[in-house]
Amino acid sequence: MHKTIVVVGASRGIGKSIVDLFARDTLNRIVALSRNVDEMNRHFSKYENVNCFKLDLNGADVRSKSTAIFSNLDSIDILINNAGKLVNKPFLELTHDDINSSYKVNITSVMETTQAALSKMTKGHIVNISSMGGFQGSVKFSGLSAYSTSKAALCSFTELFSEEYKDSEIAMNCLCLGAAQTEMLEEAFPGYEAPVSAEKMAEYIVDFALSANQWIKGKIIPVSLSTP
Ligand SMILES: NC(=O)c1ccc[n+]([C@@H]2O[C@H](COP(=O)([O-])OP(=O)(O)OC[C@H]3O[C@@H](n4cnc5c(N)ncnc54)[C@H](OP(=O)(O)O)[C@@H]3O)[C@@H](O)[C@H]2O)c1
Repeated sequence: MHKTIVVVGASRGIGKSIVDLFARDTLNRIVALSRNVDEMNRHFSKYENVNCFKLDLNGADVRSKSTAIFSNLDSIDILINNAGKLVNKPFLELTHDDINSSYKVNITSVMETTQAALSKMTKGHIVNISSMGGFQGSVKFSGLSAYSTSKAALCSFTELFSEEYKDSEIAMNCLCLGAAQTEMLEEAFPGYEAPVSAEKMAEYIVDFALSANQWIKGKIIPVSLSTP
C-alpha cells in the first residue's frame, strides 16, 4: 500500500540508510530532510520517489518551515525523527551554545516538526530516535551530559504525547539505539568499533516503523546488544 514517509536527518548515517530502504518500494513516497540538501540530492537522485528539502533543526521557525515543506503532501503515514546532535565534552567545558543547540536539535525541534506533521496525520506512526544514553538505568558515558539528557527528554516526550493522543490512531514510539557505526559515532569516539552497521540499524528501524504501531504505543525501547 502507498505510504508517505518523512525522514528527518537523512543526509548521512542511519537516516540515509532508512531512506534507501524505504525508497526500494516504489509505492512509497519519501520526504528526506536535513541541512545538507546537496548530498541528499546527489545520493537519492537514483530514486524517483524521494524528494529532498533543507531543514535546519538548529535554526529559527522550524514549525513553520516544516509546515511549508509538508504543505504539498496529502498525508503523512510515517514520521521518523532521526536527526541528532552529539557533543562529547567534559561537563564544565560545555558552552551555553553546546547545551542549547543539543536541546534544540534533539528535542525542541523534534516537537516542532511533529506539530507540523500532525496537520497531515490522522493515523500512522511517529518513531523518535533516541539513545541508550537517554534510557533510564543504562550504562552512562562521561562527556555526554548535554546529548544524553536531551535524548532522555525525547523519551519523556514520547510518553506525554502518547497520553495526549491515546484516543487517536497516531502511535508514537521511541527507539533508544545502542552504538551503530556512523559518522556521528566516529567523530565523537574516534577508533571505536560499533557492533552494528548503519544499514543494519536502519533495517530494524524501517521494519519497526512499518508494523510496530499495530501493537505498541508510547513505548521507549532499548535497541542494543549490550546489557544493561
Ligand atoms: N550512531 C550511533 O551509535 C547512535 C547511537 C545512539 C543513538 N543514535 C541516534 O541515531 C540518530 C542517527 O544517528 P547517526 O549516527 O546516523 O548520526 P549522523 O551520522 O551524525 O547523522 C545525523 C543526521 O542528522 C542530521 N542533522 C544533524 N543536525 C541537524 C540539524 N541541525 N538540522 C537538520 N538535520 C540535522 C544530519 O544532517 P545534516 O548534518 O546534513 O543536517 C544527519 O543527516 C541520531 O538521532 C543519533 O543521536 C546514534
